[in-house]
Amino acid sequence: MSESPTATPPVLEVENLVTTFDTDAGRLTAVDGVSFTVRAGQTVGIVGESGCGKSVTALSIMRLLPQPMGQIRGGEIRLKGKDLVSLPIEDMHDIRGGKIGMIFQEPMTALNPVHTIGRQLSEVFLLHLTKDPKDAWQRGITMLEKVGIPAPADRMHEYPHQLSGGMRQRVVIAMALACEPSVVIADEPTTALDVTIQAQILELMQQLQRDLGIAIVLITHDLGVVAEMCDEVVVMYAGRVAESGPVERIFEHPTHPYTRGLLASIPRLTTPRKAKLPVIEGMVPSLADLPSGCRFQNRCPHRDERCDQLPPLEEVAADHHCACHRWRELPPNNAN
Ligand SMILES: Nc1ncnc2c1ncn2[C@@H]1O[C@H](COP(=O)(O)OP(=O)(O)O)[C@@H](O)[C@H]1O
Ligand SMILES: [Mg+2]
Repeated sequence: MSESPTATPPVLEVENLVTTFDTDAGRLTAVDGVSFTVRAGQTVGIVGESGCGKSVTALSIMRLLPQPMGQIRGGEIRLKGKDLVSLPIEDMHDIRGGKIGMIFQEPMTALNPVHTIGRQLSEVFLLHLTKDPKDAWQRGITMLEKVGIPAPADRMHEYPHQLSGGMRQRVVIAMALACEPSVVIADEPTTALDVTIQAQILELMQQLQRDLGIAIVLITHDLGVVAEMCDEVVVMYAGRVAESGPVERIFEHPTHPYTRGLLASIPRLTTPRKAKLPVIEGMVPSLADLPSGCRFQNRCPHRDERCDQLPPLEEVAADHHCACHRWRELPPNNAN
């Protein structure tokens, strides 16, 4: 975690992003006015249940939305001040893998099963950093070593299926970091892995971040991962930001009823072993059937008539924002 996050310049700025899909059910807005900033050396977590728009936010930043249905309809995405939304799509090839590294949930989506690890890894270097295949191969070995893969020179000759899930994700991390990107977008990078391997991969990401000073956008549905890894957190609900702020602040003073619900549903050391944890009843609404007004209203224990209007994102403290009409009146802290 960075000591003084505001002291470093923004690497990635997302401002009022709006992303839609044209479907049989009409035009659906999957991301609706999302904003956040990531600084060098900082990790920003995007958290929320499945279907809240986290992956669509990531795909929008990388300009990898399914075409032609998925389109960015509004807002700005700036990488070191340069707007990515208006960039010709050909220029995004240099950005992806070069300036923005990507890590997805399932390592096999990033790896080609019919090519060796060495071929895939050296291709990244050949695309962005060197023309010399021997040099690229050597850089590949160094990178595998950096991500903690034993006998890296031998592993270069192996195929993805010969590695364990954890080792594969290390290879994906090596590929994502190969060109020393300024930002890495990791979408549920450990969700598919065993718990012990998860911890190792997260630790590896933290260590590499310290060494390389990269900015990380970490997408997860797991608040435990957020607590461990993030400086700032953006809580998304049905395509919108419900709450955002410094991670300590959000954990100590969760303000939005959705954030409170998420926090109440994670086990703590003090939770008795057989205790039933509270869950948020109901489901994230489908985009084709959003309530007018606050999108969380049908699951919210605090709803009243004001919630028929869409709540604005208001500042509740320095850097801490919340989109709830009732935030001033709710019982303090996590007393849901
Ligand atoms: N290709 C698509 N066409 C139509 N709707 C989509 C498409 N991809 C995602 N969506 C919708 O966008 C919303 C957000 O999805 P997603 O970003 O994948 O959620 P998350 O990553 O938070 O689980 C969901 O309601 C999902 O159904
Ligand atoms: Mg997702």
